[in-house]
Amino acid sequence: MVDCTVGLGGHSLAMIEAVSPGGRLIGLDKDAKALEIAGKRLGRPGERVDLIKGNFDELDSIFERMGIGGADGFLFDLGVSSMQIDEAGRGFSFRSDAPLDMRMDTGSKKDAAAIINDASEPELDRILAEYGEERFHRRIAASIISERKKAPIETTGRLVEAVVRAVPYKARHGRVHVATRTFQALRIAVNDELSRLEKALDQAIGLLNPSGVICVISYHSLEDRIVKNKFKEARAKGSLELKNKKPITPSEAEIDGNARARSAKLRAAKKTVQGGGVEGKDESL
Ligand SMILES: C[S@@+](CC[C@H](N)C(=O)[O-])C[C@H]1O[C@@H](n2cnc3c(N)ncnc32)[C@H](O)[C@@H]1O
Repeated sequence: MVDCTVGLGGHSLAMIEAVSPGGRLIGLDKDAKALEIAGKRLGRPGERVDLIKGNFDELDSIFERMGIGGADGFLFDLGVSSMQIDEAGRGFSFRSDAPLDMRMDTGSKKDAAAIINDASEPELDRILAEYGEERFHRRIAASIISERKKAPIETTGRLVEAVVRAVPYKARHGRVHVATRTFQALRIAVNDELSRLEKALDQAIGLLNPSGVICVISYHSLEDRIVKNKFKEARAKGSLELKNKKPITPSEAEIDGNARARSAKLRAAKKTVQGGGVEGKDESL
């Protein structure tokens, strides 16, 4: 089985239990620090578990490199981990002042400050509208441009100020923090989350063994729409059967214990037998 988003390894641990004895787990994450922590929880890499630093849109090449033809299960638990949000220095949260970074892979080139200070106004506007579904996208983009003319915007604090300045007074103190959608939009752009998800789902569906299962947990409507459409497409081609028509959502009790689960949606689908495995490869998980 493959955990495409190991994070701190919570799901991976359960997946190892599920495949033991005799099974094998491949765990991917683009965040080297998360993998280091997960590695300590998941036992010695190389035994039943291979932890690989990589992007989940590289599944085809990772499998090829490992000489593996297919897998019985893929899990995607999308977005950022609690550790990434809570680590102030990484700039994912508007709750603490930090450098505008937001890279899940700290080795990648473009950070949030680069987008905020270099993108054109129409590009910022598009990012806020498309990835944040932000009502005040035009006003916020204009405010960012005017703020960065004074001095480059290098911190989450200054970005929050630019957002607060842009939105009407009444909208500043809602239930949800006024900068939530701007931060979501920027994070998606920095990490190229949506196009990577589309590519990854195509590859995972292709690599699933007959009767294998793919599960995806998403946390906002943009991700969920992609998952829903990809599953629908594969179903129309006869390669997937949906395990659930509507996404599975957490119970009140689960949300009480873990507030960050409140927006989670789980979709699962099973590879049909005629959907077929991948032929002509050396080994199967
Ligand atoms: C919600 S967390 C996963 C938490 C995990 N299920 C657990 O039990 O701890 C999402 C993780 O996916 C990783 N991630 C997000 N996009 C990725 C991508 N394109 N490729 C690889 N890892 C990715 C993030 O770095 C983060 O650690």
